[in-house]
Amino acid sequence: MALALLPAGSQAAETSPPATASPPAPAIAAAPSPADQELERGRYLAAAGNCVSCHTRPGGAPFAGGLSFSTPFGLIYSSNITPDPTTGIGPWTAVDLRRAMHEGIGRGGYRLFPAFPYTSFTKVTDEDVDAIYAYLRSVPAVRYTPPSNSLPFRLRFGMAVWDALFFRSGRFQPDGKQSAEWNRGAYLVNGLGHCDACHTPRNRFMAENASEAYAGGSFSDRVTGDTIRAWSAVNLTAAHSGLADWSVDSLARYLKSGFSPRAGSFGPMNEVIVNSLMNLTTADVHAIATYLKSLPARERSSASVPAQLVAAGAGVYKDSCEECHQSSGRGSFFNSPPLEGSAVVQDSDPASLINIILYGPSQPKQVSYNGWETMKPYKDVLSDADIAAVSNYIRGSFDNRAPPVTAAEVARQR
Ligand code: HEC
Ligand code: HEC
Ligand code: HEC
Repeated sequence: MALALLPAGSQAAETSPPATASPPAPAIAAAPSPADQELERGRYLAAAGNCVSCHTRPGGAPFAGGLSFSTPFGLIYSSNITPDPTTGIGPWTAVDLRRAMHEGIGRGGYRLFPAFPYTSFTKVTDEDVDAIYAYLRSVPAVRYTPPSNSLPFRLRFGMAVWDALFFRSGRFQPDGKQSAEWNRGAYLVNGLGHCDACHTPRNRFMAENASEAYAGGSFSDRVTGDTIRAWSAVNLTAAHSGLADWSVDSLARYLKSGFSPRAGSFGPMNEVIVNSLMNLTTADVHAIATYLKSLPARERSSASVPAQLVAAGAGVYKDSCEECHQSSGRGSFFNSPPLEGSAVVQDSDPASLINIILYGPSQPKQVSYNGWETMKPYKDVLSDADIAAVSNYIRGSFDNRAPPVTAAEVARQR
């Protein structure tokens, strides 16, 4: 089974030799040393865990921390995980890092907050944590102390209770009845990929609801600068409101490039794709897609938009959206994705749907939408009532199903 836990498709032949300015390569290139191989593996796994997105503040050095996370209890700042001896994790041993990743406990015994996704990282193998450790030792040490958290200090002690109630430590257990590819995908999604951190709903103590795993989550995040917005992360299960209409191949293509004819990334998923998934081998991304497509359907809501509210939004749709998304809602190969069967449109929490209409997509330079003209922001064109109306129209048409949206919900996201 060990095979399933290796980066799929990462045979020695695929690891490029380190760039050097030395004389032309000898006829027989020296094989990378075991230490270099471990480092390269660690770099790959750190990308799979997207450590850099959370541990780099805007304009700051990679891994030096200081990015803020807003939680219902206050602001939490990510730590400096460069090897700096005083402000970073210089004194940490590999065993210290295992304890942080597997148990959520820092060097010295303090409890970490689950804004650091140790609840997922606990599934990562010892060998993989050790490779990440080797890689983190190799990044430039940066002297920088992140701001202090604006949380009651006592909350750290309270985390012992939280862990006892909501956290089970334990490595990934392969399922012998499934293929090696499925297991590799399950390992990546539930472990380093921590996809559940955003895509699984949480209870009021911020713990994930296991019975609704991957059925869609809600959170706040910044996309540009310091603007923090409410977001919803779609249902990733085979539900009607989830990925039912996606094939494994279109899913793999979206994850690897940020775009498939079914959808383009436009919000917090941008960073997941650009900093993490784009760096994975095609085989690993395919494994992730294979696993996701096997998730049993889970719907969070069975509500639908009443017929008169659907009808009330038809005019706005015709005037503002139909030109690209078509009267059928099927979009067009030449300019736009389908709204029919869209997980963003049918999300039980409309936060991301409202954002894309208000602000348009935020498209990183690495992501290309097939040459499509990007959708314009409608915040200055449509009123809250219009945006609610058009949302209700697309949530209740084209065989889509989702609860209605109110103008007040739109107003909250202005
Ligand atoms: C979703 C955001 C997020 C991701 C992804 C993430 N971290 Fe963190 N990490 C945090 C936050 C926030 C903290 C601070 C937690 C606290 O103060 O209790 C933290 C703390 C840590 C700590 C504790 C440091 C200390 O001095 O106590 C370590 C070690 C760490 N992260 C390593 C990693 C590694 C390695 C990865 C990638 C495999 C990673 N993190 C990915 C958000 C993240
Ligand atoms: C930081 C939160 C976050 C994390 C972590 C995250 N996602 Fe997402 N995801 C989102 C949001 C928000 C969207 C909505 C679209 C967007 O942001 O571009 C989304 C959209 C998606 C979509 C597209 C659905 C559609 O219909 O357009 C897929 C597929 C997806 N995520 C898969 C994953 C996988 C696989 C992982 C783990 C490797 C993951 N996500 C991790 C927040 C997240
Ligand atoms: C100029 C063409 C154009 C117009 C007009 C337009 N869109 Fe879009 N729309 C796009 C493109 C391109 C995307 C690609 C980004 C993406 O896939 O997320 C998109 C994405 C979307 C998405 C995200 C779909 C998903 O599953 O990720 C929604 C929802 C949406 N548009 C709704 C609307 C609504 C509602 C209107 C009218 C108020 C509208 N659009 C007008 C081109 C357009």
